[in-house]
Amino acid sequence: MNPADAIRPAHVEVSLGAIAQNYDAIRAHVGTAQVMPVVKANAYGHGLVEVARHLMTHGAPCLGVALLEEAIVLRQAGVTIPILVFGGVATRQIPQFIEHGLMMAASSIDKLRQIDEAAAAVKTKARVHLKIDTGMERIGVHWYSAEKLLEASLQFSNVEVAGIYSHFASSDDSDLSAAREQLSRFLEVLEFYPKHGLQPPLRHIANSGGILQLPESHLDLVRPGIMLYGVYPSKETLRTVPLTSALSWKSQVVFFKVVQPGSPVSYGGTWRSDHQVRVVTVPVGYGDGYFRALSNRGSVLIRGQRHPIVGRVCMDQFMVNLEWGTAYNGDVVTLIGSDGAETITAQDVADAAGTIAYEVLTNINSRVPRVYL
Ligand SMILES: Cc1ncc(COP(=O)(O)O)c(C=O)c1O
Repeated sequence: MNPADAIRPAHVEVSLGAIAQNYDAIRAHVGTAQVMPVVKANAYGHGLVEVARHLMTHGAPCLGVALLEEAIVLRQAGVTIPILVFGGVATRQIPQFIEHGLMMAASSIDKLRQIDEAAAAVKTKARVHLKIDTGMERIGVHWYSAEKLLEASLQFSNVEVAGIYSHFASSDDSDLSAAREQLSRFLEVLEFYPKHGLQPPLRHIANSGGILQLPESHLDLVRPGIMLYGVYPSKETLRTVPLTSALSWKSQVVFFKVVQPGSPVSYGGTWRSDHQVRVVTVPVGYGDGYFRALSNRGSVLIRGQRHPIVGRVCMDQFMVNLEWGTAYNGDVVTLIGSDGAETITAQDVADAAGTIAYEVLTNINSRVPRVYL
């Protein structure tokens, strides 16, 4: 869609080229490890199907998502490469995983048995990745109880163990001791394979933090999410891979006014000026996923200048103080992205809202049209 054709003067621009460029930069950084792009949560707000299709065409060997539903949407959109669903598998979902040829996470012998039976019933082989919990306490068999699962996984003739994985809880920290401990627990579990003279399946643990900060965690495959979209996982994380931001969020000035001294602005009257100011209204709000926490804290770019949000962010609109600056109806307002020499990053918005860049991106909802560049 051309931004000029949008009914609503607000849209997100996604550069698929930037995502492909980040994918290539990650590949160059991890050497022989495969790269599994993570496209869950609407590809971190960038558009599940568009991003997945582009990466498939660009040569990605596989994809990772969180939910069965996300994987089915991709299959229905013609995405044919292997897809791993990271989340836990409910028994009733198993036939659908098999029908759509999706790889599931398995972390108990009981679940492996159910998968084996369901695959046998339709005379096929189901593909699983064994999930080991090395210190996140989310899903997976604990590392200290994993051996029995690995042994059992060899017994089921209708189950192909395509991979074995774990997930870091703190790989984006400056203190990497907890992540190193997780990695060493994972490597300990993996000793099972050489000990029994077996070739291990694909071994993977690295998310963006691991990719950037722990080269020894790259193993056979890495699972980049946030960095694929050109955003570093935290301010502390080492920037060992150059990234290009893929998303801009733009709107337009829809109303201009002069506000008299003492006049309260927006719900609850939380802001007023002691002198006359020019204030413009922007047609974006928390109903689009722009945080209400940005009230009196966030800023936007208009005509290359940074201006503060004043008063509360409403559901569909917010106000910006120009002081005595200039803006006209129709001027571009940049919520995330660059205008002239100024840039507002997803991390800047996260800092102002008291959250992380992941939440800023995934929070931009379907009311905001995506435009692909
Ligand atoms: C299992 C798994 N792997 C990889 C990722 C990607 O993480 P990141 O966006 O930090 O690279 C996630 C996201 O949280 C995940 O849940």
